[in-house]
Amino acid sequence: MSQSMNAAGQHYLLQAIDLKKHYPVKKGLFAPERAVKALDGVSFTLERGKTLAVVGESGCGKSTLGRLLTMIETPSEGELYYQGQDLLKPDPAAQKLRRQKIQIVFQNPYGSLNPRKKVGQILEEPLVINTDLSKAERREKALSMMAKVGLKTEHYDRYPHMFSGGQRQRIAIARGLMLDPDVVIADEPVSALDVSVRAQVLNLMMDLQQELGLSYVFISHDLSVVEHIADEVMVMYLGRCVEKGSKEAIFNNPRHPYTQALLSATPRLNPALRRERIKLIGELPSPLNPPPGCAFNARCQHRFDTCVQFQPTLKAYGDQLIACFVVDRDEASS
Ligand SMILES: Nc1ncnc2c1ncn2[C@@H]1O[C@H](COP(=O)(O)OP(=O)(O)OP(=O)(O)O)[C@@H](O)[C@H]1O
Ligand SMILES: [Mg+2]
Repeated sequence: MSQSMNAAGQHYLLQAIDLKKHYPVKKGLFAPERAVKALDGVSFTLERGKTLAVVGESGCGKSTLGRLLTMIETPSEGELYYQGQDLLKPDPAAQKLRRQKIQIVFQNPYGSLNPRKKVGQILEEPLVINTDLSKAERREKALSMMAKVGLKTEHYDRYPHMFSGGQRQRIAIARGLMLDPDVVIADEPVSALDVSVRAQVLNLMMDLQQELGLSYVFISHDLSVVEHIADEVMVMYLGRCVEKGSKEAIFNNPRHPYTQALLSATPRLNPALRRERIKLIGELPSPLNPPPGCAFNARCQHRFDTCVQFQPTLKAYGDQLIACFVVDRDEASS
């Protein structure tokens, strides 16, 4: 076991070590089997009440990470612990624990709510499956959760299509909280919503975090969405973490050229923090055919020969972790 403890000598609430998900693909009967490296070695720790934001372009592996954390899929490699307990152990106790303690909220509040079920039924379903609460107790719990997320008692008997996008996302969040989880994986929870209701749903999530002591893994392709909610930010590129640090470090002192480019494309309210737009040329390479060297090199303005030959690994610079030869060279020469 390679797990470690936090500064207070306790187990982390959630700890992922070198998680990988490789999907085998085969084109044709005699073609050699290859793998899409959707996730290629991601590690992090999460403390109670904190938010880890996971950001990066479409296809970099964010949802794959979310599916591994909630055990919708099992990792090809790696370790996963909840308060020091091995979540990947194939025993019923570990399975029950992760089903209850780690929940996911998806991006699309239209697709993820069963249109044929009323709100009350949708909320009570996890209780029917995972607890032995009576009908009356389930109803009481559903109504109390509805109040917490800003829904009214009369909504209990309505169908999802009778709600706006923002309200549907409130229902989806309420459902995710019915089993009193500690960790919520939120996969682009506000991306499908109008800008005007995004802030309301984000504020609700922050209030619920305070009230219930929740930890979030908050997945978004958009850095501006995570600016208020994140404690730590992990920037991903082609299945790997390229930079990780506190929210302040990532937003005020981004050091990986990819983080810098992402941030330059992010609208900032404070004019002092606005950056000159760095245009990312080219597209994210395919995880089936990653380029040699640093996966970002073809799009990087700062690359030099080492970047084309070798793959950088994460290295600590102060409190930030960065995988970049350019940063390493600059650091060595300063
Ligand atoms: N079941 C699968 N089989 C093969 N490849 C897959 C599978 N699921 C995902 N992938 C590939 O893995 C990579 C990462 O996908 P993933 O959905 O995790 O990205 P993402 O960061 O969530 O993107 P988005 O922002 O579009 O949601 C993509 O290249 C995707 O095509
Ligand atoms: Mg996704």
